[in-house]
Amino acid sequence: MQRRIFLTLMAAAVTASAALGGAPIAQAADQVKIGFLVKQPEEPWFQDEWKFAEIAAKEKGFTLVKIGAPSGEKVMSAIDNLAAQKAQGFIICTPDVKLGPGIVAKAKADNLKLMTVDDRLVDGSGKPIEAVPHMGISAYNIGKQVGEGIAAEIKKRGWDMKDVGAIDVTYEQLPTAHDRTTGATDALVAAGFPKANIIAAPQAKTDTENAFNAANIALTKNPQYKHWVAYGLNDEAVLGAVRAAEGRGFKADNMVGIGIGGADSALNEFKKPEPTGFFGTVIISPKRHGEETSTLMYTWITQGKEPPKLTLTSGMLATRDNVSQVREQMGLAAK
Ligand code: GLA
Repeated sequence: MQRRIFLTLMAAAVTASAALGGAPIAQAADQVKIGFLVKQPEEPWFQDEWKFAEIAAKEKGFTLVKIGAPSGEKVMSAIDNLAAQKAQGFIICTPDVKLGPGIVAKAKADNLKLMTVDDRLVDGSGKPIEAVPHMGISAYNIGKQVGEGIAAEIKKRGWDMKDVGAIDVTYEQLPTAHDRTTGATDALVAAGFPKANIIAAPQAKTDTENAFNAANIALTKNPQYKHWVAYGLNDEAVLGAVRAAEGRGFKADNMVGIGIGGADSALNEFKKPEPTGFFGTVIISPKRHGEETSTLMYTWITQGKEPPKLTLTSGMLATRDNVSQVREQMGLAAK
């Protein structure tokens, strides 16, 4: 009996001394909990990001909480939920960059560290919120790689550029999407492609179905072209355009689409027995965006070392012929 009282007192003393000793920066690894919120959990890119975040969680020994947050309401409740679970921080690809000030305020109120991935938060005047650490792709340059890849293929096929229409699947409200498609357009024009042949096809949402609808309108309105090319913010956008073109009889011989991403949406296309109009993709790194961001957040929580304010990752163009080699060079496993 006496021994039990003694032990209870000891336990209370230990708790009190920890509380009085100030918040220790380093926490036991098993107490670290990190949220990873993504806007489109059904998209293979985001599934890959989560997969790599899990690898970091296993390696460092923290708990990863994956949450799909396709709307502003979902984001806000997910952040509260993380705080209730005693998480210390989270990484987010937001469904809308304009939620920026709201997300920053919510994270602060809930005392959670915040880092963004893929889509950078903007403030009320549309400027990036530079105080929040961010990892994104170097969007304009990657777009240029897309445009250069398309131009090279047009030349290789000996097409007369005046007979080629370009479907530019746009999503202007997202800065990284704007920068990617602008880069592609600039590269095409620099290669001699007539600007007038570039048709903007605005998509209402960043998925294949909405890109398909947008591309269909562009195709219907422009029956004069013999061949087509297409680009957009990601593989899904270009797949939508490729499917729309197929519906009108423009197959691999008369369509060159180059996407951005390199996850399963693109890989499945390359695995089909016959080539399709989905000619290539600029592979970007879900490993860096998932594993590295999570590790940076972990270090921030456990050592108080804040991640770099801005990290921009690069990509490599891959086609059906060299996709395995390119994946390998980028440190991505064979699939
Ligand atoms: C955006 C796009 C995704 C993916 C990432 C990469 O979030 O919507 O499809 O391309 O950027 O950073």
